Amino acid sequence: MSARTPLIAGNWKMYKTEAQAEDYIQALLPLLSSVDGVEVAICVPFTDLRAMVDSARGSRVEVYAQNMHQEPEGAFTGEVSPVMLSDVGVQGVVLGHSERRACFGETDKALALKVPAALEAGLRPILCVGETEEERDNDDTERKLRQQVRDGLARVPDERLAEVTIAYEPIWAIGTGRVASAEQAQEAVAFVRALVGDRDQRAAEGVRILYGGSVKPENAAELLGQADVDGALVGGASLDAECFAQIVAAATR
Ligand code: 13P
Repeated sequence: MSARTPLIAGNWKMYKTEAQAEDYIQALLPLLSSVDGVEVAICVPFTDLRAMVDSARGSRVEVYAQNMHQEPEGAFTGEVSPVMLSDVGVQGVVLGHSERRACFGETDKALALKVPAALEAGLRPILCVGETEEERDNDDTERKLRQQVRDGLARVPDERLAEVTIAYEPIWAIGTGRVASAEQAQEAVAFVRALVGDRDQRAAEGVRILYGGSVKPENAAELLGQADVDGALVGGASLDAECFAQIVAAATR
C-alpha cells in the first residue's frame, strides 16, 4: 500500500451558475459523510469560488480554481492572480489543462512560472499532462510527457516537488467516453512518476499522480486500483453529485 492519500478532483469546466453550484454542494456533502481516507476537491469556475468556499467550509471538500496567472498583480486584463485565489480561501488550482493548452494558448513556458507561483501563494497545483491520439499512435507519448513534466516542474525546488499533484489526462480520452485501459493508465502514470524520480527519488514516492479522461463510476475502481494511480481528475461525471460521490467511494476501497 502506498502512503499517498488518494485525491478525487472534479473539474466542472465551464458549467454551473452559483445557484446550481449551491444545489450541488448541498447534495454532495451528505453523500460524503461516511467517506474516509480520500481527499476530495471540486475545481469550479471563478464565479462559483467564493460561494463554494463558504458552503464547503468545515467539510472534507476542498475548492480549487481551474486556471490563474502567475503574477501577483498587474495589467493583465481578464486574468486572476494566485494571491486573489488564496484570498478567497481557495485551496488549489488546476494548471495546464489540455483545453487551456489547445483553446487558449497555454504553454509549457507559462506553466513553468505558474506551478511555483501557485505553491508560493499557498495553493496546491494540479499540473495536467497528456498526449493526443496522434502522438500515442506515433509512439510519441513518452516524449510529450517528458517535456510537459520537465517544463512544468522546472522551477519547483526539489523539496517542494511532492506538493504538486500531476494529472495524466490522455487527450483522446477526455470527454470521449474512450477511457484509457487500466494498463495504459498505470504505464503512463508510472512513467510520469519516474520522470519526477529523475529530479528527486523521494519526491517521486510522495508525489500524487491522478488519471483523468472519461472516468465514470463504472470504471473508477479498476483505474484507482492501479499501483501508481493516486486518484482521478473527473470531468463530465463530476457534474452530478451522486455520480461524483460514487467515484469518491471507489477510491476508498
Ligand atoms: P471527462 O471526465 O469529461 O472525460 O473530462 C476529463 C477532464 O478533462 C478532467 O479535467
